[in-house]
Amino acid sequence: MEKNVFEQAFIEKKIGHSDLQLKNIFIRSAAYEGMLDRGLPNQDLIDHHVAMARGDVALTTVSYGAVSADARTFNTQMYINDDSLERLKVLADEVHKAGGKVSMQLTHCGYFSKNKDCRRPLAPSKLFNAYGSISGILFSKAMSSVDMKRVANDFAEAAIKLKDIGFDAVEIHMGHGYLLSQFLSPRTNKRKDEYGGSIENRSRFPLEVLRAVIAGVGKEFPVLVKLNLADGFKRGFSLEDCKYVALALKENACSAIVLSGGFTSITPFYLMRGKVPLGGMIKNGSSLTEKLTMALFGPLIIKRYKFTANYFLPQAKEIRKVVSMPLVYLGGVDSKKGIEEIMNAGFDFIAMARALIHDPDFLIKLKANQIEKTECNRCNKCIVEMDRGGVKCVLI
Ligand SMILES: Cc1cc2nc3c(=O)[nH]c(=O)nc-3n(C[C@H](O)[C@H](O)[C@H](O)COP(=O)(O)O)c2cc1C
Repeated sequence: MEKNVFEQAFIEKKIGHSDLQLKNIFIRSAAYEGMLDRGLPNQDLIDHHVAMARGDVALTTVSYGAVSADARTFNTQMYINDDSLERLKVLADEVHKAGGKVSMQLTHCGYFSKNKDCRRPLAPSKLFNAYGSISGILFSKAMSSVDMKRVANDFAEAAIKLKDIGFDAVEIHMGHGYLLSQFLSPRTNKRKDEYGGSIENRSRFPLEVLRAVIAGVGKEFPVLVKLNLADGFKRGFSLEDCKYVALALKENACSAIVLSGGFTSITPFYLMRGKVPLGGMIKNGSSLTEKLTMALFGPLIIKRYKFTANYFLPQAKEIRKVVSMPLVYLGGVDSKKGIEEIMNAGFDFIAMARALIHDPDFLIKLKANQIEKTECNRCNKCIVEMDRGGVKCVLI
């Protein structure tokens, strides 16, 4: 009997030209877990991703894999080094035993830093760092060509090491206002050289990073890229820019693009939508000044966006029209009907964060017709939990 649209989501599928066979089209999107003990992955992190694999997620993405010590947003975050790799190998082995595959989101924070070990964070240009200002990290350093070579190499080295310990894929973070996104965005890239100005120039360094990673791991190993559809503010990275970069990523042998949007330091809720959990964010401030600043200015500076199911679909469809490579849809996937809508629009894979944080068995329950929809109500308090010992849903 022919399978219906939803059933077809559970057929095995390869990621692009890579060798990686996934058991279905579902990916646990990178969503910072905060499950670390002194910067090293703890048992909760392993259990979290094993639960995803048991819940029928084909590929679970570990976040936030800083490619070097100075790529961390704050200094208690994990970065890829011998100590974290030892724990990450256990994580990969356990996910495999549970029938899943595992990827790592590779990231550099750029100027979005309150990492006290790095007083002058790297960025495309010298920028005022409001996020780090309370920690005394006021300005970034415009990267030199030597810095760029070093950072591209850090991405490549991190990917090679992860491949060596059994990770099945990596995802290069070019979105959400982190370093590579800062290069792509005209708001933060003020360079006058061949790395600034036109979108061709702004995408030059992110593409160099992609090529360095692929040169390191080989074309058979899946290298995904997370890319903004738009930054979500005027004169930022636009949908037109995204079309250009998507085509360039295809030319440069990227395995799949995970489409998202928003800029963490300016439009953090553009990428999530729903409620802004300001109370919890104030409590989580690391100093009294930070708590006060958040309490006084939070409501003014943090813009809210109404949640609607599949909220990025209209923009993502525009990219689907122009590029013929594997695309991963992400943003507001909440039901069987929503999944069918995405599949009918021609997307190859579907990523989710909150529905799976709420219930790692979401897919199993959908498949068994036990539920039609997630009960996650987008209160977004899960992001507060990241800094309170580990991401979790407060509803359960
Ligand atoms: C708790 C939490 C942490 C997140 N951390 C990251 C992250 O580290 N990297 C990233 O690219 N996106 C991060 N995101 C964004 C998600 O990957 C995703 O884009 C967003 O939640 C929208 O998808 P959803 O509607 O399926 O939740 C995070 C989201 C949540 C809820």
